[in-house]
Amino acid sequence: MREQRQRTQGPQLRRSPRHRAECIFAAMKTLAFALGLVVLGAVGCGGGTGDDDDDVGSDAQVTSGDGAVTQTDAGTGADDFVMQASDFECTTRWQKVRRFRITNKLGHTAEAVALASANTGGDYPVGTLIQLVPFEAMIKRKAGFSSASRDWEFFSLSVSASGTTIRSRGSDGVVNQFGGNCLACHTKAEPRWDLVCESGHGCDALPLSAAQIDSLQNNDARCP
Ligand code: HEC
Repeated sequence: MREQRQRTQGPQLRRSPRHRAECIFAAMKTLAFALGLVVLGAVGCGGGTGDDDDDVGSDAQVTSGDGAVTQTDAGTGADDFVMQASDFECTTRWQKVRRFRITNKLGHTAEAVALASANTGGDYPVGTLIQLVPFEAMIKRKAGFSSASRDWEFFSLSVSASGTTIRSRGSDGVVNQFGGNCLACHTKAEPRWDLVCESGHGCDALPLSAAQIDSLQNNDARCP
């Protein structure tokens, strides 16, 4: 829609930074496919087992003021956070640690930021939500959600000025926009990093430079 508008407005109009970011991303996608990076990255990735969605049926559900659903496990009393599309937001509101944005949906943001900032490894508190780019996210679910993913739930998202749509979610069956399986790549991080890849943690690299990542973050369509 925006593209059409720009076309009809004529070539003399400069394209928005956001549009440029989308172009960069589209170009990188093409490049990644051309180089076969994604295909390589995906080789040997286990397929989804179909058990992505946590069974929370027996848990007590509490709906907080902003519509978010938190769950308290009847047996352990452990909190959990089940993201709804409306719980995602402009990530530049969150703290930035090195390249990624981080918050915690259960009030443990200071703890999560401290752990990330210390850069020595460790397990993130339940409710920790991390994003590198607007259209991918990972949140730490309660213990037992998925041992394979160390209780991280991955998301592939679509974002626009009107909000966020969850394209897919789960522990092991979610694929990014380059065709790579989130878990298959993130699980390569050395154990102490709790599946956080950054650079030098053991994951295969993303075909995005630091500048491109910053540009994608700063041109998030949901940000004011
Ligand atoms: C081919 C490997 C690969 C795949 C597939 C992949 N990632 Fe990542 N991801 C990375 C790397 C590498 C980084 C760190 C990039 C950087 O900091 O420059 C990263 C960063 C992240 C971060 C920021 C925290 C961190 O780990 O550094 C999140 C959140 C994230 N990815 C989520 C996802 C989700 C969700 C998916 C699937 C929809 C996904 N990733 C697929 C490699 C991958």
